[in-house]
This record gives sequence, structure tokens and C-alpha cells, in this order.
Amino acid sequence: MHAVILAGGKGTRLRPLTLDLPKPVVPLLNRPLLEYQLAMLAAAGFGRATLSTSYQPDRIREVMGDRSAGLDLGYAVEPEPLGTGGAVRFAASPADGTVVVFNGDILSDLDLSAVLEFHRRKGAGVTIVLSEVEDPTNYGLVVTGADGRVRQFLEKPGWDETDGLRTINAGTYVIEPEYLSLIKEGVHLSIEREFFPLLVERGDPFYAYVHRGYWIDIGTVGKYLKAHADLLRLRPLTLPGHREVLPGIHAAEDAVVAAGVEARGPVVVGRGARVGEGVVFSRFCVLGPGCTIGDGAHLDACVLWDGVRVGEGARLQGVVAGQESRLGSHTRISGLFALGTGGHLPDYSHHAEMGEILEGE
Ligand code: GTP
Repeated sequence: MHAVILAGGKGTRLRPLTLDLPKPVVPLLNRPLLEYQLAMLAAAGFGRATLSTSYQPDRIREVMGDRSAGLDLGYAVEPEPLGTGGAVRFAASPADGTVVVFNGDILSDLDLSAVLEFHRRKGAGVTIVLSEVEDPTNYGLVVTGADGRVRQFLEKPGWDETDGLRTINAGTYVIEPEYLSLIKEGVHLSIEREFFPLLVERGDPFYAYVHRGYWIDIGTVGKYLKAHADLLRLRPLTLPGHREVLPGIHAAEDAVVAAGVEARGPVVVGRGARVGEGVVFSRFCVLGPGCTIGDGAHLDACVLWDGVRVGEGARLQGVVAGQESRLGSHTRISGLFALGTGGHLPDYSHHAEMGEILEGE
């Protein structure tokens, strides 16, 4: 059995954060996103995975190395992007046997062993994992029969087309080698828009496993923040090398948090970070290694990557700041805001929703 993680996308919706850090390795509680998927593979007994890369492959290799979450890592680097289907074919050959594929931007508590058991029990050639969402209109809706066979794919359907269905493609697949060989080598192909509809048309044994647990795709800045909020809310916070230095504040051993810093929700403070006096955290916040937060700053639902500096008296809400960026003293930001690597907001910068300010102009 061969595990492939699709990690070659450009992550355009997460720009500017993904301009120099590919989406599959953006930090989630200060660990690369791919580590969470590798942990899922490790839990199902996998000892090795291939990372299927194309956009900034060296950056991914630099972050992930040769081993992570107890798995040996291999890299398949496409000379040019082959799309989600072409990439699977490029990374795994039919000779590898059954292939398990993950999208590299998913966070979920899927039990992969249960999916594999379902796949075998059904005698499936291909199995797709589905997840139920409130609003399926932004996703690929998958229609199944009572026997669990996939009947139809509707890409970004209108509400009138959904017919009450909310089961969408959750970005995890199991593929038997004879179906993998339907994908031509070296040809750009979308697994969801071309390969799966072809299987339906051919009447192949193509089944859907519905995952009823947690699932989110981290495609946008809003979802990136939500994934942090969910992780901090849903799981007991046990981070190796961290301890709760003040109520709600989980700091790495060499981080410095001033006495009296207040947290009104869970806060993670990375290695070597420094939090000044009178700082207040609301909801949740994650500070990457080497961040510094000036005295009297207020941070609400913020994720700061490595080496970010926040000046004194800043008020930040919903900010994701890329590596080594700087938000000057007394900066005020509310609403979702993403600052790219090395970005710099001078002191007293401010941003707020425009609201109805121009009403009647
Ligand atoms: P957006 O540009 O914001 O849509 O993000 P994306 O580039 O990640 O695209 P999308 O979310 O549709 O991709 C789903 C998964 O497939 C992600 O894990 C991508 O990294 C991966 N992916 C997309 N296109 C390719 C490709 O051409 N090659 C490889 N190896 N992976 C890909």
C-alpha cells in the first residue's frame, strides 16, 4: 500500500501567506499542517508517505525533511503542475498496489483504518471520503445511491441543484492499481473533475465513505483561523515542551511571559517568544517561535508566524502575520487581515471595516 499526499497547489486563496510558504506546510499550532495528515497515516499503520509536490518543492522539503510523525518521507517533484489526478499518477505507479491519497490542506479526525475496512468490505475499486457541510455550494457535491455507490459529481452546485444533499468531497481517496492506470502518465488531469466522473460513466465499483466527525479544508485565511480555534477548543492542549505558565497560556520552556499577562482563551507561545507587560489575549492566539509582543498590546484571535514583532499598545483582531513581519506600535486592526512574510506596518497604522461611512454620499 502506498500513501500519497497532494502538496503541490499554489494556495492562491491564502496569499500573501503562501507566496513563500506553500499551504501544506503553513503552521498549525506551530507545527506544519502536513504533520497532522502524517499522524493520521501513522495511526493506520503506515510507515512511509510520498509528498507530491510542484510549487516550491524545496521549501516543503526544507520544512518536512526525510522523516515526520514517525513516517519516512519520499518526494515526487512534478516538472510542471499535473493537477490532482496527474499528480497521483506521477507519485504512485500501479505497481505500488492500493494507493491512499490525501489532499494536503485538510484537517480532520478521520479514522483511515475504518475507510480501508469499508473499501475492502465493499469490494471497491475506488473509494472517496465524503464530509457533510452546512453549505455545499462552494465544494464538489457527491451524489450517492442507497448502496453507497457514487452516482454523480456536481462541482460548486447552485442551491437548487443540491436537492437537500450536503455530502462533499473530503479530499481522501483509496484507489486500486487497475484504476490508477486509467490516468495517463505525464498528462495534466483533475481527479475530481475528470477522473471521478469517468469512473461514474464507466460504471466502475466506485464507493463513498461518509465521515461523520470533524473536517475542515484550510483554503482561506478565515478557515485557517477557524482551524486554530477548533483545535484549541476540541482537543486537550498537550504540546510537547510547553507548560501552562499563567492560566490559559501554554508557553515553550524558553519563552518569556511577563507577570500579569491576561488570557481570555487558550494561548500558545512558541520557543524564544517574549510577551510584554499588560498584554491581554482574547478568544485564542498562537505566537510562533521568536515573536515579541510589546507592552499593553491586545490580541484577539490572532496567529503570528515565526519572528513576528508587535509594537506596544497595538490592538489586533483576526490577524495572521507571516514570518518576520512587523506591526508597529499602536497599530489597530479589526476584521480578517493577512500580512505576508517580512511585511511592515508602521506605527499607528489602522484598519477597520468601512461600515456605512459613505452612506448617502
Ligand atoms: P487554491 O489555489 O487556493 O485553490 O489552493 P490549491 O492550489 O491548494 O488548490 P486546491 O485547494 O484545489 O488543491 C487541493 C489539493 O491538491 C491541495 O493539497 C494542493 O496542494 C493539491 N494540488 C493542487 N494542484 C496540484 C498539482 O498540480 N500538483 C500537485 N502535486 N498537487 C496539487
